[in-house]
Amino acid sequence: MSKKHLENADMETAMSRVDGRVKVMGAAKYTAEVQLPELTYGVLVESTIGQGVITALDTKKAEWAPGVIAVISHLNTPGVPEYKLQNQDVIQKQLRVFDSPNIYYNGQPIAVVVADTFERARYAASLVKVTYAKQQSYSNLEDNLSKAVVPKKAKSDPKGFTTDFLRGKAEAFRDAEFQVNEEYIQPSEAHHPMEPHSIIATWEAADKLTLVDKTQGSQQTAASIAKSFQLPPENVKVLSTYVGGAFGSALRVWPHEIVAILAAKKVQKPVKLVLHRNQMSYMVGYRPYTLQKVAIGASKDGKIVGLSHASYGKTSMYEEFTENVLIMSRMMYDIPNVDTKYRIVPLNVSTPAPMRGPGEATGSFALECAMDELSYKLNMDPIALRLANYASQDPDKKMPWSSNYLKECYELGAEKIGWNKRKAQPDANQEGEWKIGYGVATGTFGAFRGGASAKATFKPDGTLLLQSAIADIGPGTATSMTAIAAKNLGLAPEKISFQLGNSTFPKAPMQGGSNTVATVGSAIVATCDNLKVELAKRAAVQKPEWKNAIAKNIKIVGTQLINSDDASSKVEIASLFSQDNLAELVVKGDAAPGEESKKYSFYSFSVHFIEAHVHELTGVVKIKNAVSVIDCGTVVSPKTARSQSMGGIVGGIGMALMEEVVLDDRTGRTVTASFGDYHVPVQADIPQMDMMFVNERDPYLNPMGSKGLGEIVIIGVAPAVANAVYNATGKRVRDLPITPDKLI
Ligand code: MOS
Repeated sequence: MSKKHLENADMETAMSRVDGRVKVMGAAKYTAEVQLPELTYGVLVESTIGQGVITALDTKKAEWAPGVIAVISHLNTPGVPEYKLQNQDVIQKQLRVFDSPNIYYNGQPIAVVVADTFERARYAASLVKVTYAKQQSYSNLEDNLSKAVVPKKAKSDPKGFTTDFLRGKAEAFRDAEFQVNEEYIQPSEAHHPMEPHSIIATWEAADKLTLVDKTQGSQQTAASIAKSFQLPPENVKVLSTYVGGAFGSALRVWPHEIVAILAAKKVQKPVKLVLHRNQMSYMVGYRPYTLQKVAIGASKDGKIVGLSHASYGKTSMYEEFTENVLIMSRMMYDIPNVDTKYRIVPLNVSTPAPMRGPGEATGSFALECAMDELSYKLNMDPIALRLANYASQDPDKKMPWSSNYLKECYELGAEKIGWNKRKAQPDANQEGEWKIGYGVATGTFGAFRGGASAKATFKPDGTLLLQSAIADIGPGTATSMTAIAAKNLGLAPEKISFQLGNSTFPKAPMQGGSNTVATVGSAIVATCDNLKVELAKRAAVQKPEWKNAIAKNIKIVGTQLINSDDASSKVEIASLFSQDNLAELVVKGDAAPGEESKKYSFYSFSVHFIEAHVHELTGVVKIKNAVSVIDCGTVVSPKTARSQSMGGIVGGIGMALMEEVVLDDRTGRTVTASFGDYHVPVQADIPQMDMMFVNERDPYLNPMGSKGLGEIVIIGVAPAVANAVYNATGKRVRDLPITPDKLI
């Protein structure tokens, strides 16, 4: 096989991040850095109990403090019009902030102080005195399992992953010769992007609002806010030019955003509200604490007979949160008998949110650890076990894969990590005081594509401006879109600029679920094709043979328009403008999935390999080597793809070894709110990483041949670490994170 896959060296020499320079120079302005005339500052006051009712709110001292403009709470809120339309008796869809004195979780925003400086607002917020009628709060999942419920969503989505599911026979694992039947715990994890959530709300008129906001979807935030405040949709403008990471935490509107808008209405000035790092643990969602029960039964040859998988996750008292924890158990392996069960437990916590690899990251930890446990019972290589159960089509949807290069992933990764050095017996490989182990795990995530549009403005000097409302939370969207346009047009990337993060730009989805390249990239291709057709039409005025030119054959080379079908027929780009006295050419393009989207099952795949060294006395785990092999179709921007995948491994190592939101269940207060207590990997925790991309085209998802990347780079990393730790030590840790105390 000729080498098509990409390794580290191939990716390092690829096109660099187009906004890298402004970011490292500090010239890229993030929401909290934006300055406006007459700006005021809001600081939240939070509840300090987990459940109860506010009986008194003494704001006098705060109001008298220097620089304070207003203290706003449920007692004097201008009100959110949408709340009045909602039925107070039914379960709320989102926290109705400042709508009542009721407290549902510890840390709930109950008032905001607005002042002329941030420091004065923060000081005054400390002066607000709250009296509560306190009730017992409940925040521990295991203690409250009896309150587990089937999500309401299951009724409206009977084929979805929250509905009890059965293929073949239930609990068929019980009949098998070899069995694993265990419980796995994923603790809550906070997103903690580098940039805290921030918003600047400005009422331009009584019915017109501009927001500078951290969001993964400028248009979706605008639509949501327009609905909440009952404004004409076109009267809400959202700008999110730079977003410093989000991982799912900015996929929706949160209470602090509503508060900033209410406050701006009250004080009739722009209000900036920036969350404190501690508030990032409970005000903008988190990966929910989840208990899973997985049972697998197999015959001697490793063929899996039955798989049962149940999931119990936390949600808030006022809102259902569900995620696809069980999807992988239904579609990853060719298993005749599968049953799954999904439950949520409403508790005195804030509502969780999708977090990178939402659902699958949690589900794969349980499934892929259980697969590893089974491999030892069978005395079979864990890769061989997975290959023995390889699904040649999607066993859940019973449809062919659009593409699936998992076998190549196993092969490339095993070679790269040196899988042959792995000892089949655990705790059998030691160098000095360090026990050495190797682990593998598989990841998958749906490869999605939606509809999007883009706009191109082309100038006689050959420069091209592309615009789309899409957000960029860090993966390098402007870079990948520039690469797609450059390839399509033949234009040098330096001639292209890409603007995003503005709700008034052409339609785009939220940046989530790894769908940006597939969705917006397709719109870029459509727009570039339209531009080429438009240019050819103008070229035909000079040379009639251009009438027959088709987009695929047209390229912009240097200052000329070229038709590869007819090499002699070149025209100067500038002449196409001058002939009609045009200053610029504006072209739009739309793209949406076609018929193929109904005929195939679309997934991206990844296989992660970890070499872990565990200190025999202290239990410290050092990741020595990490290899991720990715099947995400054709890689459109190799360098940013590599960076994104590095971030995935780092996130996976954090999930495996460090990250855990701990609540004090007596009060529901978050104990690990600061970075002093909530540990994330630092440079010294991160090993040599090899990212490899199979780089084989997916024929059906989109014209670029790509599939999604953002999620599969983390899904499967944590179980690969846990499996490597077991191989090193013989100790199976089923509750993350794998801290040293669990290994000694
Ligand atoms: Mo992500 S959890 O798709 O932002």
